[in-house]
Amino acid sequence: MGSQWGRDKVYVRALKEGYRSRAAYKLREIQERYNIIRETDNIVDLGASPGSWLQVERELTAGIVVGIDLSYIPPIENVFTFIGDFMDPHTLEEVRPLLPSTSVVVSDASPKLSGQRTYDQARAINLGENALIFAEKILKPGGNFVVKSFQGQDFNTLLYQVRDHFLSVRTFHPKSSRKGSTEIYIVAKNFTGREWNSGTGNIGTNETEGPI
Ligand SMILES: C[S@@+](CC[C@H](N)C(=O)[O-])C[C@H]1O[C@@H](n2cnc3c(N)ncnc32)[C@H](O)[C@@H]1O
Repeated sequence: MGSQWGRDKVYVRALKEGYRSRAAYKLREIQERYNIIRETDNIVDLGASPGSWLQVERELTAGIVVGIDLSYIPPIENVFTFIGDFMDPHTLEEVRPLLPSTSVVVSDASPKLSGQRTYDQARAINLGENALIFAEKILKPGGNFVVKSFQGQDFNTLLYQVRDHFLSVRTFHPKSSRKGSTEIYIVAKNFTGREWNSGTGNIGTNETEGPI
């Protein structure tokens, strides 16, 4: 079966190349296309377990890399890891002292799926909105943000909220996502430093297609 073979190929490649999961290739695709991580960037990774994005980030920057997850993240050399809920404001205050200046926030967080599509979609959007709130509180102006979401109800609301804080915003489907997956990444560059202003949107100044 074509799609099954596709999944196996990515999985086997991840094992061979020493990555903890196939998710590594999604971040690598995002990086190749949009160059969101520069070589001295300090990065916070939300929903980081088991840690394959952290492995890629460690390869890309000499800066500080911090991962947060509800679940344990097995150690990675020169990466700080926290068990916690990034939606809890105390978590941000715990990691803030490690990061004098944060240039990139990424979130690959997803909820445990219940199988009820509308409910799962609402929880995914809620995670995305909270990742944006986290980013808005810690990113320096000019910083970059990547957040996973899922196509469906309220996706555009999240997209408009991101557009309200960044000069350049794109949506991206990695080739390495599972076949049939509705997951989609919002890739946002150049944080404007403006205050969180949920739901207002600012569709006049941003684009959603093509390379940044
Ligand atoms: C798809 S996995 C991330 C994979 C990771 N990017 C990697 O490359 O290994 C999604 C993760 O989001 C985490 N997560 C979901 N909600 C969270 C929350 N509120 N705070 C922290 N982590 C969360 C889950 O525990 C899960 O480990």
